[in-house]
Amino acid sequence: MVEGVRCMDSTIKLTLLLIFFRIACASTVEKNFEQCERAVKNWALSSLQQGINEDQHTLKDLLFFLHVPRTGGRSYHHCFLNKLYPTSQECPRSYDKLRFDPSKAKCRLLATHDDYSIMEKLPTEKTSVVTIVRDPVDRVLSSYEFAVEVAARFLVHPDLASVAKISEKMLKKANGVSTLDIWPWKYLVPWIMGDLFARRDTRRRKGSSEAKRDSPYDMEDILMPLHEFIDEPIVHDIVHNGATFQIAGLTNNSYLAESHEIRHCVQEHKSLGQHVLDVAKKRLGAMLYVGLTAEHKESATMFANVVGAQVISQLRNAKVSMDTSAANQSDNSSSSPLDSELESNVDQNNGTINKKTAMQDEGEARTENMTVAELIEVYEGCISSLLKTQSRRRFASLKEISPANFSKEARRHISDAVLLQIKTQNFLDLELFKYAQKIFTMRRVQPMGNLDMNDESESKFDQPRAFKLWKIVSILMLFILLLVFFLFATAWGRSSKVKVKGFTKATGKNHRRFVESKSLLE
Ligand SMILES: *[C@@H]1O[C@H](CO)[C@@H](O)[C@H](O)[C@H]1NC(C)=O
Ligand SMILES: *[C@@H]1O[C@H](CO)[C@@H](O)[C@H](O)[C@H]1NC(C)=O
Ligand SMILES: *[C@@H]1O[C@H](CO)[C@@H](O)[C@H](O)[C@H]1NC(C)=O
Ligand SMILES: *[C@@H]1O[C@H](CO)[C@@H](O)[C@H](O)[C@H]1NC(C)=O
Ligand SMILES: *[C@@H]1O[C@H](CO)[C@@H](O)[C@H](O)[C@H]1NC(C)=O
Ligand SMILES: *[C@@H]1O[C@H](CO)[C@@H](O)[C@H](O)[C@H]1NC(C)=O
Repeated sequence: MVEGVRCMDSTIKLTLLLIFFRIACASTVEKNFEQCERAVKNWALSSLQQGINEDQHTLKDLLFFLHVPRTGGRSYHHCFLNKLYPTSQECPRSYDKLRFDPSKAKCRLLATHDDYSIMEKLPTEKTSVVTIVRDPVDRVLSSYEFAVEVAARFLVHPDLASVAKISEKMLKKANGVSTLDIWPWKYLVPWIMGDLFARRDTRRRKGSSEAKRDSPYDMEDILMPLHEFIDEPIVHDIVHNGATFQIAGLTNNSYLAESHEIRHCVQEHKSLGQHVLDVAKKRLGAMLYVGLTAEHKESATMFANVVGAQVISQLRNAKVSMDTSAANQSDNSSSSPLDSELESNVDQNNGTINKKTAMQDEGEARTENMTVAELIEVYEGCISSLLKTQSRRRFASLKEISPANFSKEARRHISDAVLLQIKTQNFLDLELFKYAQKIFTMRRVQPMGNLDMNDESESKFDQPRAFKLWKIVSILMLFILLLVFFLFATAWGRSSKVKVKGFTKATGKNHRRFVESKSLLE
């Protein structure tokens, strides 16, 4: 019995300790939150103030194609922009691993995975921005598949050491850029590659334990299962909410010094995401063009009409004045622009560099006489050959990890739990995507209509206040609980001394209370 009393005593002490610990913890979290809130709000305020574009519908001197990875932007770059702009007018550092060099101006097209913060280096008032937005779940799945696909190409090599050797050679030989130089693939692909090689080694050591499952997203003896992938820190850092962070200029690849602090704050305190979302939405609304990956045909047509038509007339006007100098320039333009997802120069069979294949269809500046209808025609021809090339490469890569094979059909069998988790993780991109859909629908109806949808974005999550209220309530409840504990402890101590007979009953009751109050704490 005395044992029991002592035990009860120490349990109570422990509980009290835990409660105090929680309160102490809560106040550090509170402090951290307040610091974060200040940083995020300051950034948002200054971002919202700068660069108000009075005329978003007119193409400016420089076109910045903000290419969010895995949105299908490659086909726009390769089959529209490369056809429209002579190579000499593409900014020299597009998609390069090196940072953009603004001193080499005179360029009219910048297409890159760099985030919006690169605008700091551009003549903002002379720049038009375009982008494409995709359903975030599809984008995450596609990022996974693409990272695996590119990494799998290297499985033709016996081990990672020989991959490293080959890559070094490639770097020396190449004046072009490979996928491995481009953010975010330069992080994702080597990481997945290491994982694929490790799993292959394990398989070989153990002998083939043909544990065949039919979903390529869950074949852990061959590749990292999807549900593991989406929880990895690197994926949190550079894939989840990637579109929002890229448009906000807050990626892991940002030019903005405070971007890392702000991104981490938002990852830690979800309610602060609203500020980032507000900035991204405002910028999206001010862009010359916003396409949707899933509405491909309509997006491409709109691109041709809105962007293509203006590029054509702009270049035609420019042509007249600089016809002669262009002739000299074009000789010197062979530093070819390369595509991002640049399934690039890495030959599918042996990982060596190929001569740039795009040379074959280098639609070099036939632009001055082109009509929009012709542009669309050129685009369609280009895209069908691009798709063929891509699927050939994909087939060759996936052969390396057979029987894993990604397909639309296989995607349908991904569990609801995993899909839900991706949605939760991409809560900002989900909102941004909805907003992009609205912009798209509106511009489809009235291509030059002005968008003013900012009113509804304000009210939606007024979370910071709700969050504070919740904290106050929870602290109050803790104190009430404490009080109850003290009362019980005293009452129980007294009664156990006096009424030994009633002991069992009292303990039982107290025990139940204890359990109840503990569950309240969870
Ligand atoms: C970006 O993320 C990758 C992967 O998590 C990391 O290796 C890299 O150091 C990060 N870069 C910066 C500037 O934080
Ligand atoms: C183009 O180059 C030729 C010689 O290569 C030169 O005579 C001519 O002046 C140049 N034109 C311009 C506009 O630079
Ligand atoms: C081409 O560029 C090289 C250096 O990159 C330069 O030496 C040469 O004069 C240029 N040629 C023309 C025709 O501009
Ligand atoms: C790689 O493949 C290309 C063509 O597919 C071939 O020309 C080249 O010789 C191969 N290189 C090696 C090292 O096997
Ligand atoms: C473009 O039009 C001009 C006259 O308008 C013509 O002389 C020229 O041949 C045309 N070029 C092409 C490629 O059709
Ligand atoms: C993957 O599946 C597709 C059909 O969905 C098929 O056409 C293709 O050949 C398969 N690829 C491999 C490498 O087995």
